[in-house]
Amino acid sequence: MGTGIAHVAAQAGYRVILRDLELPRVERAIAQMDSLMQRAVSKGKLTDEERTATLARLTAVTDLNAFAEADFVIEAIFEDLALKKELFANLDRICRADVILATNTSSMSVTEIAAATSRPAQVVGMHFFNPAQVMRLVEVIHGLQSSDEAVRTTMALAESFGKTAIEVKKDSPGFIVNRILLPMMAEAIKVVEEGIATPAEVDKAITLGLNHPMGPFTLLDFTGVDVCHNVLQYFWTEFGQPQYAPPMLIKQMVRAGHLGRKAGRGFLGEYPQG
Ligand code: 3HC
Repeated sequence: MGTGIAHVAAQAGYRVILRDLELPRVERAIAQMDSLMQRAVSKGKLTDEERTATLARLTAVTDLNAFAEADFVIEAIFEDLALKKELFANLDRICRADVILATNTSSMSVTEIAAATSRPAQVVGMHFFNPAQVMRLVEVIHGLQSSDEAVRTTMALAESFGKTAIEVKKDSPGFIVNRILLPMMAEAIKVVEEGIATPAEVDKAITLGLNHPMGPFTLLDFTGVDVCHNVLQYFWTEFGQPQYAPPMLIKQMVRAGHLGRKAGRGFLGEYPQG
């Protein structure tokens, strides 16, 4: 997601500091953006000057201290609450006091992440959808202590990226979209567990019957079976209602290492690697 978000921001004209733990990973991310832009140039959707200017606005770093210069920070590390809290505590120390720290969490508590900082009013949720370059929505989430001004600034930033921002007025697991999407995925898995249809048939039914661009299993494999499992587990813990409990089949998929497209195998079978 970090790659997609950085790409969208750089293409919208912002200078972007892109950070990962190892430099080759950031360089790979920038190469991926370049290859998407080269395709867009060849289709006449972008000029070569715009491609070059976008690349020039990107700086690859590994040192978190580089964010001492930043005017706005968007975190997009994987969904581990303890790691996010540690990162936000460090960003709080490094970034100027007026800087907003946004988390691209898909479901976790913005309030809890904000509590790791000395500036909870300046911490908000900024949830992009995958692939961030294409998907038009950004959910902007109020943590318990987020200021209205920080939320407004974040919504304006998302709009300046060419996205539509929707305000999520309360910090609740899954916000709007994932709160609705994940139980649908869990139900799709139960349909398979009960022998009602295969994953491919469920996807066909949903794409043809509801006009969704992807069926729930294609989306599960695309997003990551482990990611969906962890979000369901989190909902189950937070809400305590059985509709959120991860079905046995998704637990077994995770245990078997069948984590979706990136892992080479998911609900819809094998994926070619490379
Ligand atoms: N990265 C960047 N751009 C991509 C891309 C990717 N991974 N995949 C496709 N695109 C671009 C293509 O370059 C193309 O751009 P162009 O029109 O300018 O040439 C455009 O998207 C359309 O691509 P295709 O024609 O190849 O394929 P589709 O028309 O099938 O579109 C799709 C692909 C946009 C991924 C579409 O299938 C779709 O909308 N799927 C549903 C995605 C979805 O539901 N996302 C939300 C996931 S949930 C989430 O993110 C929440 C999180 O918290 C887990």
